Amino acid sequence: MAEEAAIKQYNKIIKLTEGKDYVTQDLAVRLLADEESHKVLFESFLKEYQK
Ligand SMILES: [Fe+2]
Repeated sequence: MAEEAAIKQYNKIIKLTEGKDYVTQDLAVRLLADEESHKVLFESFLKEYQK
């Protein structure tokens, strides 16, 4: 799932920027939250179609 790849990548950026670049880290945290909510939404669609 594209969401999972994005989540992995944003987590990597969050770790890499720790203590170095808080602006980029903050952006990555916000984008991570977006992707987490997309993941939940798409998983709920999948469940719906599997009924
Ligand atoms: Fe997404």
